[in-house]
Amino acid sequence: MIVCSLDRSIHDRKAFDCGEPALNAFLQTQAAKHQRQGFSRTFVLVDDGAASRILAFYSLTNCEIGRSSITEDDAKGLPLHPVPCVMMARLAVNRANQGESLGKWMLMDAIKRTALISQQTGVHAILVDAKDAKAKQFYERFGFKEVAENPMRLYLPLATALNAFQ
Ligand SMILES: CC(C)(COP(=O)(O)OP(=O)(O)OC[C@H]1O[C@@H](n2cnc3c(N)ncnc32)[C@H](O)[C@@H]1OP(=O)(O)O)[C@@H](O)C(=O)NCCC(=O)NCCS
Repeated sequence: MIVCSLDRSIHDRKAFDCGEPALNAFLQTQAAKHQRQGFSRTFVLVDDGAASRILAFYSLTNCEIGRSSITEDDAKGLPLHPVPCVMMARLAVNRANQGESLGKWMLMDAIKRTALISQQTGVHAILVDAKDAKAKQFYERFGFKEVAENPMRLYLPLATALNAFQ
């Protein structure tokens, strides 16, 4: 299996179904457009033997976070102004492949990619927007914590992620 950048001339976006219509619709109608417009980049997991079939995807974009949004411990040493972060805006696994650790695999891939990005520009943390309580529990398993002003937005300092998963 490999993770690569979404290419609508190769990847079959229509066949993807994670059980969440909004996430399917994003992949099918918006992801490639957002990529062209420089809003986000989408990465797909495909089987080597069937490269057009999307098993899972995630999208990355940029955001920032301020000291008042995170715990006192995490805010220690941070400047007064907001600091740059990477946002994993979406994560979804094809319904037939859920429960096969692909969600975890994609989260790890996003963290590794964020670590590479942080060698070129500042990245303090990774943020995610959980679409419901179940998705929130999934992220919390990996150490993500609530942002103060939005209980469905979660963050994980990049240094913590790298310590935990390396
Ligand atoms: C949520 C989702 C991404 C998880 O992917 P997955 O491939 O099914 O999950 P994995 O097999 O990688 O699970 C990894 C671990 O998380 C646990 N887990 C999976 N889904 C979970 C959930 N909703 N809540 C809590 N834990 C969860 C698994 O039990 C597993 O634990 P283990 O490592 O101890 O065995 C996937 O189910 C999905 O695409 N759902 C629909 C879209 C969605 O909700 N996206 C979330 C982003 S908003």
